[in-house]
Amino acid sequence: MNLNSARRSELASQFAVRASAYVNYTTWAHDERLLTEVFRVLPQLREGPLCLDLGGGTGMVAKYGADRYPSEWVVADLSRDMLSLNTIGQSVVADSGALPFKDASFDYVAARSIMGYVDFDLTLAEMGRVMRPDGFSVVAEKVLGDYEGAAASWYERVQRVRNPLKMRVETTAGLQGQMRALGFDVLSCIELRRTYHQPVKEWLSRSGSIPPEAQQKLADLIADPPEAAQAVGFDVQSGQLAMPISWAVISMRPSGFRPQPSLVVSVVPVKWTVDGLCVYVQERRASGVKEPEFFGSVEFPQGHVEGVESIEAAASREVAEEAGLQVRRFIYPSERVRDAIREERGITTESLYPWQVVITRGRLRFLSIVVVAEVDELPKSEGSIDNRGRWYSTEEYAEVAKATFVYPLNRPMLSHVSNILHILEARKSS
Ligand SMILES: C[S@@+](CC[C@H](N)C(=O)[O-])C[C@H]1O[C@@H](n2cnc3c(N)ncnc32)[C@H](O)[C@@H]1O
Repeated sequence: MNLNSARRSELASQFAVRASAYVNYTTWAHDERLLTEVFRVLPQLREGPLCLDLGGGTGMVAKYGADRYPSEWVVADLSRDMLSLNTIGQSVVADSGALPFKDASFDYVAARSIMGYVDFDLTLAEMGRVMRPDGFSVVAEKVLGDYEGAAASWYERVQRVRNPLKMRVETTAGLQGQMRALGFDVLSCIELRRTYHQPVKEWLSRSGSIPPEAQQKLADLIADPPEAAQAVGFDVQSGQLAMPISWAVISMRPSGFRPQPSLVVSVVPVKWTVDGLCVYVQERRASGVKEPEFFGSVEFPQGHVEGVESIEAAASREVAEEAGLQVRRFIYPSERVRDAIREERGITTESLYPWQVVITRGRLRFLSIVVVAEVDELPKSEGSIDNRGRWYSTEEYAEVAKATFVYPLNRPMLSHVSNILHILEARKSS
């Protein structure tokens, strides 16, 4: 069930009246500090995230985001008139409780100042449905904050007279509690205390969108504020209003999400020549590299373990694809590693591979396994292996290990590889 049609059209017409002046009269709309908090988690997402500004109205949140982060935007709102002023991405007329989007379509969903108007449970369920499980939803909502007791009732009354369709003003703890009860993990939560200043006349009429009788009620309310409201900073002086407002900015995602880092295998190719042990190192230059800033950096052949590939199968494939080398055998730097490969009742466990984790943009992205493989050159393929790889003797490798421009995933391996080479040489000569 979504909002009944009477309420939908009431909401739409209330915001239709406000639309044209919304951007100018809404004191908090451009609050940089608030918007900074709304976007704090965005850089943790994949690059170029697809974002939804839910109940986005004139698209101010989307605009702030699009101006500062490479991101794609959809702005969804019940009010066609509010949306007509949106200039960002795609505008979609929609009820937040019944969104016309597929499951897991968005990396990021922002909902600023809409929760008081909407069916909270349905809207949260829809936010959880349309966001990717590894994404973020951020709710920014005016809350009671410092208004307590008589001041809280007074503030709630002010809010309701100004916005008759607003159903509730919550506390931050209340909002978080409801989110958790609806199956979300609250990832971060801050309460921002702001005081907005505005000429009383402007505030009362809100560009003519507040009817005269409501304006009178508001004038009466602000003429006689409870002491507790004044104690938190509410003030009217010389026709200027100072209105303390607290925002809860809460980031969340449906609970149960466990980040799944992908598995990467890095291969250290070695071969024995008449002059001794050599190791193969390449320059990162594969076409289509996602990170142009590391083009030309020192790296080992490596790549993702795909599907149900074993670590060795992936290592063989990567070293053939990237370096034109064929694995003759894998070498375990310690004999103990071999002992640590066990098969028991159909379950194989392998341990003691050297490994490392890679965290980027605040998230665990890769678990990287390092294998050493004795290799042969494959017949030169017609293909275009262009990784500028070459073989180094162990002495030469000592210089490579000091390189400054190294692909970060391989940085910790550089000195380990020196040790591994010494172990292999010692083993050979013993
Ligand atoms: C106070 S405005 C906030 C607009 C925008 N989020 C911002 O921060 O500038 C509330 C918005 O919620 C929209 N709205 C209210 N109920 C809605 C619903 N059920 N579904 C979608 N949008 C809704 C209104 O049309 C209005 O644009």
